[in-house]
Amino acid sequence: MTDETVVVTGANSGIGYEATRVFADRGATVVMACRSVARGERAADGVRDAVPDADLDVRKCDLGDLDSVAAFADGVTTDYDGLRVLCNNAGVMAIPRQQTADGFETQFGVNHLGHFALTGHLLAVLDATEGESRVVTQSSGLHEQGRIDFDDVQHERSYDEWEAYAQSKLANVLFGYELDRRLRNRGIDGVVSVVCHPGWAATGLQARGPRESGSSVRLWAMKLANALFAQSAASGALPMLFAATDDEVTGGEYVGPGGLMNMRGSPEFQRSSDASRDADAAERLWELSTDLTGVSYGFDALD
Ligand SMILES: NC(=O)c1ccc[n+]([C@@H]2O[C@H](COP(=O)([O-])OP(=O)(O)OC[C@H]3O[C@@H](n4cnc5c(N)ncnc54)[C@H](OP(=O)(O)O)[C@@H]3O)[C@@H](O)[C@H]2O)c1
Repeated sequence: MTDETVVVTGANSGIGYEATRVFADRGATVVMACRSVARGERAADGVRDAVPDADLDVRKCDLGDLDSVAAFADGVTTDYDGLRVLCNNAGVMAIPRQQTADGFETQFGVNHLGHFALTGHLLAVLDATEGESRVVTQSSGLHEQGRIDFDDVQHERSYDEWEAYAQSKLANVLFGYELDRRLRNRGIDGVVSVVCHPGWAATGLQARGPRESGSSVRLWAMKLANALFAQSAASGALPMLFAATDDEVTGGEYVGPGGLMNMRGSPEFQRSSDASRDADAAERLWELSTDLTGVSYGFDALD
């Protein structure tokens, strides 16, 4: 990865942090896209402890604020000539209903719409990079429980935190596949899109929902379940690293851990749910995401 630039969203914690450490160790410049620059800088110090010559660039990118996403993308486009990999990794899980700065339900807004906008803004620099660039979108095995509720996509009428999470993670897969189809249909060979999931990894993800809903019982249950079943965050980063770098990836794949119930183990190509391979739903979600974010991909201006 020497002389390559990689953007990782949510780089200050969990899987994003571990992926940043590995990319940096392999010589990449890692742009750490973080909701909080202070948390990002602290994480960068941690990476530097392990990789003293790490080339890290911590920048603010709040995926729950489309202006912040656009400003981040502008900065990257101005300051970097090329971008080898965009890791759409950041996420929130099963939190009480909240809204982003733009009024979107937060799990849909951050996990899907923020990354939809970010990718659209960065597509030109990805495409301008010599050789193949990749967009890697982090989903979850829970996408299999997901349904896109097109009648109430922001879950304004009724809100269940797990349904909203599963919807957002299904949206990640639909988006990743649809992006790859659109790139292929327009003959854009220089960018491929691939989807991954980490299985179950012990990170900050599991604690935020219980903490924000004030449920100490759920918090302890999550901690116990993590101790019993989860793999490390470093192992959870492997599918994303594989999707970002492996030679066998050609675009449109789904990568996850191949061990026990696909919750742990080494990365392999897997089959995502039937709903995630519904091209009509993917197209509908794409149009909706374009309308909601105001970001339209400039495919025609590329290649
Ligand atoms: N861990 C698992 O078992 C598991 C399973 C399936 C899928 N995943 C997926 O893996 C991804 C990474 O999660 P993780 O497990 O590494 O959890 P994590 O340790 O909680 O990391 C999540 C990251 O996302 C960032 N983030 C949250 N809201 C954001 C926003 N509005 N703008 C920018 N960044 C934001 C967080 O930043 P702050 O620190 O500032 O909050 C943090 O850096 C997520 O997409 C998650 O859905 C994880």
